[in-house]
Amino acid sequence: MTKALDGVRILDMTHVQSGPTCTQILAWMGADVLKIERAGVGDATRGQLRDIPDVDSLYFTMLNHNKRSLTLNTKSDKGKEIFTRLIEECDVMVENFAPGALDRMGFSWERIQEINPRMIYASVKGFGPGPYADCKVYENVAQCAGGSASTTGIEGGVPLVTGSQIGDSGTGIHLVAGILAALYHRTHSGRGQRVECAMQDSVLNLCRVKLRDQQRLAHGPLKEYSQFGEGKDFGEAVPRAGNDSGGGQPGRILKCKGWETDPDAYTYFITQAAVWKNVCDVIGKPEWKEDPDFAKPEARLPRLNEVFGTIEDWTKTKTKFEVMEICNPLNIPVGPILSMKELVEEESLRKTGTVVEVDHPERGKYLTVGNPIKLSDSPSDVVRSPLLGEHTDEILRDVVGLSDEEIKIAKEEGAI
Ligand code: COA
Repeated sequence: MTKALDGVRILDMTHVQSGPTCTQILAWMGADVLKIERAGVGDATRGQLRDIPDVDSLYFTMLNHNKRSLTLNTKSDKGKEIFTRLIEECDVMVENFAPGALDRMGFSWERIQEINPRMIYASVKGFGPGPYADCKVYENVAQCAGGSASTTGIEGGVPLVTGSQIGDSGTGIHLVAGILAALYHRTHSGRGQRVECAMQDSVLNLCRVKLRDQQRLAHGPLKEYSQFGEGKDFGEAVPRAGNDSGGGQPGRILKCKGWETDPDAYTYFITQAAVWKNVCDVIGKPEWKEDPDFAKPEARLPRLNEVFGTIEDWTKTKTKFEVMEICNPLNIPVGPILSMKELVEEESLRKTGTVVEVDHPERGKYLTVGNPIKLSDSPSDVVRSPLLGEHTDEILRDVVGLSDEEIKIAKEEGAI
């Protein structure tokens, strides 16, 4: 079976997380991803957060599957020559260096277009044009600058970052969409184009419901926020809302049986209006179905603490899985809080390839997250990440067209 991106070659100048997330997805979809790294150094994450001495870290392996690694010093004359050949041979170049790094190497967008007008040049940067355009940015900075931290946490408490890597991986996924659109556009324009994603913009895009609420605030309190029912005034900006649902159906995280000792014995419970009567029956409050204080969604909004307190009295008598078994057939949307331990043990995720065991020549077997995007005619196999420079010779020979003698000279000159 062919892969969706068979025949697409990616010049992968990415490092750390945001860029590698993007190129890993393209590789899973079948693109030939050539990861350029500095000899003896490589992507900094190879050595970060190591669990086994001298072995590529899980941080690196889990973000660089299905790629080939080529070491190249793109600042040396010979290295620049080889890099130019690679630009000629590739369809897409992806990079997430600090602003200006590629220009300093001598490969501005204008120069890249001269070398290969069909090249799609995709970049991640921390910020778009403006006062912060030159800043280096990591995940949590993006979460803070993109509106996530100010709206995450408990009302009145400190801003919080989330465990989801929405700044890095979130931006990488946005970049994939841009690259695929540019590839499609090239099929009729014949030309490449520049694709840019700023981490601040991507986080803000993922936080768009909070920008929605910022504008609603001008027209009165946000009644579905718990603090409304608690009689607390709203300030000028969207507040942190704990575990309140971000949508139109109120929801909260509630304790389940065992919560006293198990930090993950909780469920998310949504009081969807359409199934309110089912909720009343399940929690033993059938009288709420007709009670004017509880029967209609609008009437419940100032009483959400009482509503969820009563539901929690019921969920505390059940495990999080029992809550799901009881509520699902009644169309009540609930979800157990699953720990990472529970997720890696979940059989169904293994079956769909979302959690995959990979064998690595130096570290042995480890678990990773497979491609969450499932294509019926282009399934993804997860291939272990490359060792540093593992494919240098074959890429120089087969893609760049160097002879064995030329490869030897390039090595002697320190270009690879
Ligand atoms: N050959 C020669 N030089 C190379 C090279 C190669 N193969 N690969 C990289 N380099 C050089 C770069 O040209 C750059 O040199 P310069 O500073 O002289 O121009 C240098 O290595 C380091 O690049 P830089 O991106 O500045 O790395 P850093 O470790 O200092 O910063 C980040 C890391 C992530 C903060 C920064 O890259 C960044 O802000 N990236 C954009 C936002 C982003 O993606 N952040 C999230 C990361 S998950």
